[in-house]
Amino acid sequence: MYRTHTCGELRMEQIGQEVTLAGWIQTVRKFGSINFFDLRDRYGITQLLFNESLNDKLDAQPLGREFVVQVTGVVTERTSKNKNIPTGDIEITVSDYKILNAAKTPPFTITDDTDGGDELRMKYRYLDLRRNAVKQNLELRYAVGRAARNYLHTRNFIDIETPFLINSTPEGARDFVVPSRMNPNQFYGLPQSPQTFKQLLMVSGYDRYYQIVKCFRDEDLRADRQPEFTQIDCEMSFVEQEDVLNVFEGMMKYIFKEIKGIAFEGDFPRMTWDDAMEYYGNDKPDIRFDMKLVNLNDTVKQKGFKVFDDAELVVAIAAPGCSEYTRKQLDELTEWVKRPQIGMSGLIYVKYNTDGTLKSSVDKFFDEQQLQGWAQKCQAKPGDLILVLAGKEERTRKAMSELRLEMGERLGFRNKDEYKPLWVIDFPLFEYAEEENRWVARHHPFTAPKPEQIALMDDMSQYANIKANAYDIVLNGTEIGGGSIRIFQRDLQQKMFAALGMSPEEAERKFGFLLGAFEYGAPPHGGIAFGFDRLCSLLGGSESIRDFIAFPKNNHGRDVMMDAPAEISQAQLDELKISLVK
Ligand code: AMO
Repeated sequence: MYRTHTCGELRMEQIGQEVTLAGWIQTVRKFGSINFFDLRDRYGITQLLFNESLNDKLDAQPLGREFVVQVTGVVTERTSKNKNIPTGDIEITVSDYKILNAAKTPPFTITDDTDGGDELRMKYRYLDLRRNAVKQNLELRYAVGRAARNYLHTRNFIDIETPFLINSTPEGARDFVVPSRMNPNQFYGLPQSPQTFKQLLMVSGYDRYYQIVKCFRDEDLRADRQPEFTQIDCEMSFVEQEDVLNVFEGMMKYIFKEIKGIAFEGDFPRMTWDDAMEYYGNDKPDIRFDMKLVNLNDTVKQKGFKVFDDAELVVAIAAPGCSEYTRKQLDELTEWVKRPQIGMSGLIYVKYNTDGTLKSSVDKFFDEQQLQGWAQKCQAKPGDLILVLAGKEERTRKAMSELRLEMGERLGFRNKDEYKPLWVIDFPLFEYAEEENRWVARHHPFTAPKPEQIALMDDMSQYANIKANAYDIVLNGTEIGGGSIRIFQRDLQQKMFAALGMSPEEAERKFGFLLGAFEYGAPPHGGIAFGFDRLCSLLGGSESIRDFIAFPKNNHGRDVMMDAPAEISQAQLDELKISLVK
């Protein structure tokens, strides 16, 4: 038997007992002729006391950091107790030890406040995973997955696996492709999500499906995006939007209760996509704080100030308590909006002083009474700072949304321990893709238009106005899930493909299997998929989903530990009948 107990288990009750532990040497401390070691395993840390009697053996077989050892000894009460760890009252007075495996000195310290940089920790991910912080993240991930499964299981959902080697049907992101040896010149695509398969399962009669499943998307990476990530993917038959929202609001509540002990009161708020864009400037509003966007077009145009007159949109926020910002702070904020990522040419401000007077950066054009009008529109109070951006509609709205988040951050309104979920509903069915010069599906091409708006699909000039029964669930400014009610009739699906510029032949070639299935009794259905990694990172209070993935990729999509992707041998290429471009 390698061990009688784990390193997190022993307490005062076991004093006097002989035990055997196995684990990794975390720290080495020498006091005169006595040695102390901390022994670590998955469950905790136990202090080991090596008396003089072991010194000869230690000389012959020294122990270093991260050595794997087995020790036998007696549980003893510590003279100086450590209140910070559960095993802090005791130590093991070691009688003998055995080195199970020696270790090189690790490239960084395996501690909470490690000295290892990001890349180094990624390269030695197996060592990083030994750290408590990372381990806790993976434990949280497991607990969230288990809670989701519990909830879905008790509501009759069945977990069904769907294939990874499927056809490439790029929509949204690019596909990863895999060459087929047995079918030269042909490629599988890895699924961006199991979307069509879960719909086929509905046609097959499995009316409540779920899967915690890997998805693959070849897209530009950010803190909340990985090329392979995990969804809690769900689909239901004989449902309307309301049913789906209710079931999955229930799941979120269940997960929060289980994981964080948080009970949400009442229903999650709902906001239409139009309102989200109007008041927050984006479709995933962070509603932990107010500071809503206010459209000033009607108030400030045609007053002789060219910047406003030429702008498609003049938009403002009132930053509470910021009227005393210094020149330097305002200049710095102006530089902030001028950064290429934000892309504005300037920032206009109005100080609503605590004495009720107003002072702006455009005093030449607007008198105090006019500024009072702005303040009223913004519902600003004395002491607030009104920030105004003007320019092209889309860019300006986006920039103001960023500025709002930045101000929220600076003012401490984005507390990661406060959770404010909401549903964003009534998404547009289409969106115009400028680069491709065509209409694309806002969610995906299987999303149903609002039934009363189907007729508008005959008129391309109406595309921008068609709304879908599509919804996102947003938590603290992050989209953690999205779904829709689906098209389930062949003719409507064909109409949708045509609207997206697909010829009937192309639609048949790419999605003939789905169109065919819709002719054999497809029930009305709808569903949702949650970004599992994102949900975990929010529950764990971190910005980056990488911290919650055991072996993540870096920002260039590389696994720096195994150095993937990599070249393959000529023999493999020959077998696949692939020749490389030099
Ligand atoms: P969607 O594309 O909105 O919907 O994806 C669902 C959720 O997955 C998460 N997500 C990601 N997480 C990490 N890295 C990525 N690269 C990444 N991309 C997406 C987001 C997102 O909300 N089949 C549909 C769902 C449906 O209609 O039922 C789908 O995949 O949190």
